[in-house]
Amino acid sequence: MAQDLSWIDVMDSDDLWIGEMVAVESALGPLLMINIDGTVCAYENRCPHMGGRLSDGEFANGVIVCPNHRWEFCAHSGRGINPTGQQLNPHRVRIVGGRILVASGDS
Ligand code: FES
Repeated sequence: MAQDLSWIDVMDSDDLWIGEMVAVESALGPLLMINIDGTVCAYENRCPHMGGRLSDGEFANGVIVCPNHRWEFCAHSGRGINPTGQQLNPHRVRIVGGRILVASGDS
């Protein structure tokens, strides 16, 4: 049975510029918010390797690099690039009235 989604207001869209990656504390826990060429993505702010805080890493050319051991992830999909076979925990995103909303119940 499909689970109902609810939407959590996490930040103002003006506070996440193109090319930026920021940490947000939310009702869903720590989130990594990324603006990739105008597309906003949200992930749990936790590396699947040993729990590194991804927002302390790097984001360039669509790639997130964990600060701890340099694992790399596609910012669009959250899939591992190096190593492969890994996946960040994503959340669906909506922008309504200049606010970024993140779905609860989809991960
Ligand atoms: S904790 Fe992220 S690569 Fe090790």
